Amino acid sequence: MKSHISAAAAAVLLSVTGMQSYAADADALPILRADINGDYVISAADMVLMSKFILGSGELSDAEAERADFDADGIIDTFDLIGMRTSYVRNSVKDPKGTFISGDGNNTHFYWFGERGKGVVADISSEVVSPFSMDKWGSGIDITFSSEEQVSASISWLDDEHFYLKQYDMPPELFTLKSDVRFDSGPFLTGEYISDAGRSFKLGYFSGSCDGEEVTVLPMGTKAQFIYGDGSGETGSFTRTDQNHFTLVWEDGSAEHFTRREITVKDGITYVNGILIANKTYSLPLTYAPGGLLPEFNTAFAEMQADAKRDGISLSVCSGYRSYSYQSQLYNDYVARDGKAKADTYSARPGHSEHQTGLAADINYAGDWFNSTPEAKWLAENCHKYGFIIRYPYGKDDITGYKYEGWHIRYLGKETAKLVHDSGLTLEEYLGIDSKYSY
Ligand code: DAL
Ligand code: ZN
Repeated sequence: MKSHISAAAAAVLLSVTGMQSYAADADALPILRADINGDYVISAADMVLMSKFILGSGELSDAEAERADFDADGIIDTFDLIGMRTSYVRNSVKDPKGTFISGDGNNTHFYWFGERGKGVVADISSEVVSPFSMDKWGSGIDITFSSEEQVSASISWLDDEHFYLKQYDMPPELFTLKSDVRFDSGPFLTGEYISDAGRSFKLGYFSGSCDGEEVTVLPMGTKAQFIYGDGSGETGSFTRTDQNHFTLVWEDGSAEHFTRREITVKDGITYVNGILIANKTYSLPLTYAPGGLLPEFNTAFAEMQADAKRDGISLSVCSGYRSYSYQSQLYNDYVARDGKAKADTYSARPGHSEHQTGLAADINYAGDWFNSTPEAKWLAENCHKYGFIIRYPYGKDDITGYKYEGWHIRYLGKETAKLVHDSGLTLEEYLGIDSKYSY
């Protein structure tokens, strides 16, 4: 599954890019003022040339004079010397940050300069990607690739968005800030994910972790490349299912399915991707007691009820909000009647019932008889349009923890309810969570 990133290929990226852009269009390179001798490094040598000229003890060629005229006012004077010094200092103190593009149009490279001298370079056409670390001392830069190959260069800023990188004996390479580009595919992999290969990810735009280990992630067109701490990497073809799901098909043909799963707990209440969850795994505290169905539930239900009525379908809530203690009483009664094992297939233990959330209710009649009514059919087909889902669908007992309940609806809001409905998944599957008692 993993393949080693070609270290040599990565290491030559810088030099290759520089050479091509220079050879292809040398005249088009913008002038680097203050670089009097034209070596694309602003150094003491330039300062000496400038000082000598101003003091009347040196000559400058036309090209040198143009570069010496820092403020481009047609006169070379002490203002230009001050400009040079400013530029010299800027090169020492200003580090590249963010995404820069370099290349000549045939061979485009994206460089990402991140925190703590970490960066990545990607050759878009060959899809060769290599992380690097960067050491800056004055205007000098040492770029070290994961192969341990090193490039030494000087940085010279033209303005806030452009700089030249110049390696000794190599043509200069012009870098342009692309503030709108995070390589070329945007933030599609950011967030926390679990995969069906049993891996868990915390991903930022370019860096993150996989099962707690550092990983570099590079979105590249329709592919994503993962580079692990040991230098190994793998490239997957990317397909998005919806905003919370995507698939990567690795080079060996295997598919890994990713589910966004960001779990937060606030006041003892668990939210997954912002959705309040009550099931056999995640419980609500005794103190969570909204006292009734929440307004968003009631508003959506009223709308659904009115539309259903037009279709000749009569809907009403037969059991809405249930407090922790009421659920406790119900559950204990069922245990007394059917035994614990059976009761657990259809009744939640106190703290685990969705009815305590104020976002769930049973419609018309909470019993198997309801499942074969026109009302059950209507609900299953339409409730997502109003922001509800059938929470315990048929045949998903092992996943939801409960047998089929065609009457139990859960309010999620229209957007999420539609996503869950269209996915064909239970809420547990959609969020990558389980529903199992730990006691
Ligand atoms: N009947 C559902 C599972 C509950 O008791 O909340
Ligand atoms: Zn219910």
